[in-house]
Amino acid sequence: MKVGVIYARSLNNVIGDKGNLPWHLPEDLKHFKETTRDCVVAMGRKTWETLPIKPLPNRTNLVLTSSSLYHPEVITSRSILEATNEAFYRRKDIWFIGGSNVIKRALKVADTVVVTEVLNNYEGDTTVEDLADEWKMISKTSHRSNTGINFNILKYERSDNYVSTNTC
Ligand SMILES: NC(=O)c1ccc[n+]([C@@H]2O[C@H](COP(=O)([O-])OP(=O)(O)OC[C@H]3O[C@@H](n4cnc5c(N)ncnc54)[C@H](OP(=O)(O)O)[C@@H]3O)[C@@H](O)[C@H]2O)c1
Repeated sequence: MKVGVIYARSLNNVIGDKGNLPWHLPEDLKHFKETTRDCVVAMGRKTWETLPIKPLPNRTNLVLTSSSLYHPEVITSRSILEATNEAFYRRKDIWFIGGSNVIKRALKVADTVVVTEVLNNYEGDTTVEDLADEWKMISKTSHRSNTGINFNILKYERSDNYVSTNTC
């Protein structure tokens, strides 16, 4: 079972602004759909609230929250560990898709990270930290959107010699 983190960030590490993505990148949305198809997608409660289509189709939607959320097609979890267990029971890969706290905590247990690097700076109220040294880039592809924005898709795996001591 794969535990992945997937997100898009700008050069200045912005991932969101006022509940939205600061850019329009249809090609990245397509890449996101293809990567996470048939998997569990785990997201923070605020990200869930901002989704234009709920739940995201063709994948198991899981919302992280300390409260209750009633939706017939959605699983809720109270921690990253509980979320990974839910995916494990379903024998599915899980992708943590944001926002910032979810990414930060999920990076402690993930084995794969996929980052869309949007090659501009943006203003925003939600950011991520740089990836730590334990992440080794295994591929990089460069793209130009029809909207004129350049972006890279970066794939990382954990370095072989890294031993996690974290709990979540
Ligand atoms: N660029 C990207 O790839 C990307 C991806 C996703 C989202 N975004 C953007 O990011 C912004 C939203 O992100 P955000 O960081 O503000 O909020 P968020 O992570 O989506 O939601 C925060 C909420 O999620 C719950 N939560 C988070 N971590 C948890 C944990 N470990 N255990 C249990 N519950 C947890 C809490 O809900 P309760 O308060 O209910 O307890 C918390 O208040 C939006 O602008 C969105 O567009 C960007």
